[in-house]
Amino acid sequence: MLLPRIDNLLRYSIVSNFWQNFLSRIGVEVESTTETVRRSLKTARIVAFTGAGISAESQVPTFRGKDGLWRNYRPEALATAAAFESDPHLVWEWYDWLRSLIHAAQPNPGHLALTELQQRAAAGFTLVTQNMDGLHEKAGSQDVVKLHGDIWLLRCTKCGREGRNEQVPIEPMPPLCPCGGILRPGIVWFGEMLPVDEWERATDAAQSAEIFMAIGTSAVVYPAAGLVQMAKHARARVLIVNPEPSPADEYADWILRGPAGEILPRLL
Ligand code: OAD
Repeated sequence: MLLPRIDNLLRYSIVSNFWQNFLSRIGVEVESTTETVRRSLKTARIVAFTGAGISAESQVPTFRGKDGLWRNYRPEALATAAAFESDPHLVWEWYDWLRSLIHAAQPNPGHLALTELQQRAAAGFTLVTQNMDGLHEKAGSQDVVKLHGDIWLLRCTKCGREGRNEQVPIEPMPPLCPCGGILRPGIVWFGEMLPVDEWERATDAAQSAEIFMAIGTSAVVYPAAGLVQMAKHARARVLIVNPEPSPADEYADWILRGPAGEILPRLL
């Protein structure tokens, strides 16, 4: 039976497996969501917005969910300026442990697929990440917008001097600036402002995106999570890549459930 393709219609709704199964049973030719997204990405202006989930397959633990970092450590006990002030040694011990995990980690097929997507993107591509692990850069991605800073960057709490430091384990503990001040990780803690330039780049990109991909994020930490809604209101089509539901699903045109390292290479 020859029936018209309906992928154009489906593109504007979340294509669930339920509907795909139903339509193919009654003989309607349905392009898979993966194929529709893959084709659409070829010509679109793209923003990829990533969270800790993209690094999960590189054995970097996520923050929430099962085995998440915050399960065993309360964020307010470690990731705040107040916690650092009251016990820099404790906070540094935790970040030193995290740095050692990240140091051993390699980019996975999800990171590499985004690098390739950037190289192929004909209409523009911006990678915005909440991650501080540096794995996107290690995978070869360019001009990464880092909303929550970089764990390899240290900043002096006294004179403000910044510098890269990849020493694992870090010494002395806590690390010191030549001025005598204590160095802190160059990341954004709870209650702190996002870096102004990075936020501006992220919002500009979200507002002009044609396809906005939200990959491996629980989408609960604001203002970063607000980019999904911002892109949707600016008429981007929103793709979610995540094995679990999240509040961002509400804005989705397409949802691909599964690990980023398996799904993203299929979109090339
Ligand atoms: P979360 O730990 O909150 O969420 C990780 C998400 O990744 C969850 O939705 C998982 O379902 C999903 N996930 C797990 N494995 C995955 C895989 N293999 N492929 C794709 N997705 C997978 O991490 P974020 O959303 O990044 O902030 O958290 C946001 C911010 O909260 C972090 O940047 C950090 C934290 O506090 C700061 O440090 C400032």
